[in-house]
Amino acid sequence: MKSFKDKIVVITGGASGMGRSLAVQLAAEGATVLISDINESGLAGTRDLIGAGRCQIYKVDVGNRHEVYAFAKEVLDKYGYIDVLINNAGIAIGEARLMEIPLEDFERLININLWGVIHHTRAFLDVILTRPEAAIANTSSVFGLMGIPTQIPYCVSKFAVRGFSDSLRLELSDTNVAVTCIHPGGIDTNIVANGIHYNGKKEVTVEKFKELVMTSSDRAATIILNAIRRKAKRVMVGPDARVIRMMTQLAPGIVDREILRRRSNLSL
Ligand SMILES: NC(=O)c1ccc[n+]([C@@H]2O[C@H](COP(=O)([O-])OP(=O)(O)OC[C@H]3O[C@@H](n4cnc5c(N)ncnc54)[C@H](O)[C@@H]3O)[C@@H](O)[C@H]2O)c1
Repeated sequence: MKSFKDKIVVITGGASGMGRSLAVQLAAEGATVLISDINESGLAGTRDLIGAGRCQIYKVDVGNRHEVYAFAKEVLDKYGYIDVLINNAGIAIGEARLMEIPLEDFERLININLWGVIHHTRAFLDVILTRPEAAIANTSSVFGLMGIPTQIPYCVSKFAVRGFSDSLRLELSDTNVAVTCIHPGGIDTNIVANGIHYNGKKEVTVEKFKELVMTSSDRAATIILNAIRRKAKRVMVGPDARVIRMMTQLAPGIVDREILRRRSNLSL
């Protein structure tokens, strides 16, 4: 994609973090951004940063398929098409072992992080295919590259987003639609604070996450938009993500040992 100027871009999770940064940067490049989220005040905050001329906001729960298809209909009735879909919305989950996680929480996380991506893609794909130059970008994680104990639902969702994106990219290889899978490392956003937590561990988990983040959401958005522009199939966001990618490819056994060592050091 040569430029985002005059493109119509849907971004899920546009009320905060990388979704907000993506919306601001895309609008500055001349795109019209249609952002969705469950957080209405956050959506209004993003629109205030951009101005209503280039930013429309929609309250949508991406984990609810009826809301997703109603949102797509509303957008397509008004604009007729979109050029770019960025499936960014997601939630995190605090540390808990498989049997400690209520099934309802596991299902909710999968509905948001995985089914949200699938439903949006299905809702918009037919019109995206009619565009001369189009893109779909889906947010996985470094947790879509390596398994992490006490993070099973999140890893399941992010490995699946990677599988969905890689397969879709090949299915669409003879079309004008590029598919990019995004793998952020630790990005300074509200993802952990907004997550599901257990046993009163939220504050300590948020603190630990703050110590680990390496990249601002604005910098992450710039990296993601560059990747979409050059039709990259995969993008590592941040230096930690690049190292993790290399290590999981070259030395997966060392990665497993290091994950277990850090866990025992932290007495998790
Ligand atoms: N921050 C990181 O370190 C990191 C690392 C890897 C992957 N990610 C992924 O990046 C994406 C963006 O997250 P972020 O870090 O900007 O976090 P964030 O919490 O700041 O933003 C996520 C947004 O998604 C929205 N959201 C959550 N549930 C929703 C739902 N059911 N329907 C609609 N919107 C919903 C939230 O309200 C929020 O505005 C997520 O998919 C996340 O899993 C983040």
